[in-house]
Parts: sequence; structure tokens; C-alpha cells
Amino acid sequence: MNRFSFPGSKAYHIMKDLTQTTTQPSHALVSFLLRSTTATMVSPGQVGETCLSSLLTPSHVTPDSRVLEIGCGTLRVGLHFIRYLNPEHYHCLERDELSLMAAFRYELPSQGLLYKRPLIVKGEDMDFNMFGSGVVYDLIYASAVFLHMPDKLVWVGLERLASKLKPYDGRIFVSHNIKFCSRLGGEECTKRLTSLGLEFIGKHTHDSLLFNHYELWFEFRRSKA
Ligand SMILES: C[S@@+](CC[C@H](N)C(=O)[O-])C[C@H]1O[C@@H](n2cnc3c(N)ncnc32)[C@H](O)[C@@H]1O
Repeated sequence: MNRFSFPGSKAYHIMKDLTQTTTQPSHALVSFLLRSTTATMVSPGQVGETCLSSLLTPSHVTPDSRVLEIGCGTLRVGLHFIRYLNPEHYHCLERDELSLMAAFRYELPSQGLLYKRPLIVKGEDMDFNMFGSGVVYDLIYASAVFLHMPDKLVWVGLERLASKLKPYDGRIFVSHNIKFCSRLGGEECTKRLTSLGLEFIGKHTHDSLLFNHYELWFEFRRSKA
């Protein structure tokens, strides 16, 4: 599998810095920076692709599935879902205007994906009303997002999302960590999830090319209809 050739190199640090900011760089900027170094590296697109494949299998997502991403940034992962899914089946709630501009003005047109008509809404209050009341998702995921949000907001979001997740078969995947949950203590967290009709299934590990370490995905399902 591809990895950074020189983890101590300038390019590595540029990538790491850029990808750890909340305002995501455009793909063009990252590509430019990568071309200006001598290291052999992976692109954000390749990283997104590994995220896509690591989520497709456990969540049984097909092109006809409906997917909601929380905090899609510049669509590092989202682009791969948009390409894979049928038109209008990808939704995202993102708070950062610059990331949205990069997504709409560069990422989607340059990949020829505008025809997929993704519904990407600007917002930061975990308010999903704009996506319609009847929609039920097969997969809801948050890649490197919940760890940047106050725990209270994550729980508000989970409460609203629980009723939008397909019972039993639908999945919520959260990357990196679930401190919003573990900070409450195991028992309390399980109780809180249960009160929302959610159940923690387990964690998955995948080789994150971008962060140069193994990335964790935590899987939840809706245990009540
Ligand atoms: C580290 S970036 C990850 C971006 C993308 N998920 C990825 O994996 O490339 C975190 C993203 O979460 C977004 N975000 C943080 N808090 C948010 C909130 N309350 N509502 C919506 N988006 C939020 C940020 O604007 C940023 O785009």
C-alpha cells in the first residue's frame, strides 16, 4: 500500500498541517504543494477512496443507498461517495463557507460530478430540517468531525439523526474517537445511546494514508424501529 515516502519530509509536514486545519485546502492547492516537493506521496483523493472502501463493506451501501455526511469539508471523502451513489443520494451538512466554495467551485466541477446533484447545506447546529422530513439514510458518517465539536452538540445531533437512520440495517460511522461517549463513562454512555434507540456495534481499523497511522471508525446502528 502507498504511504508517504519520507515521513520527516517538508511535504509530509505541509500535508499534515493542511489536513489538520478545520478549513480544508482545495485539492488544487494540495496538488500544487505536492508537485513542489520531491517526495512520492498520496493525494487526498486516494485517502478519501480508502475511506469509501472501508465504509462500503460494513455498511452494505449500494449506489441506491442514501448517505449523509456531517462536516464534509472540501469533499475529500464525499467526492468518492458522490461518484459512487445515484444522483441526489449524497447529503452533507458543513459549517465552513470556504470549504463549501472549494467543493462547489472546484472539486465537483473538476471531477465532472455536478450532475450528481449532491445536497450540501451550510450549517453548524446539527439541524437537518433542510434535508427534508421523510428521508431515511442507510449510512451517516462523520470523518474527523465529532472530535472537533462540543460533546453536547454531538449528542444533540445524534438524537436528531437517530430517527433519520434506517432501523437495524442503517449505520452511523464516526472516525478517530468517540470521546463524546467515553467521557461519560461506559455504562452512562450505553444508557444514553439506548435512550436514543442507538447501539454501539464495534470499531474498525483502516490504514489511513493521509494521517500516516491506522484510523479508527466506530460503528453504531439503530436498534429500534
Ligand atoms: C478535520 S475536517 C474533516 C473534513 C472531512 N470530513 C474530511 O475527512 O476530509 C472537520 C470538518 O468538520 C466541519 N465541522 C466542524 N464542526 C462542524 C459543525 N458543528 N457542523 C458542521 N460541520 C462542522 C469543519 O468545518 C471541517 O470541514
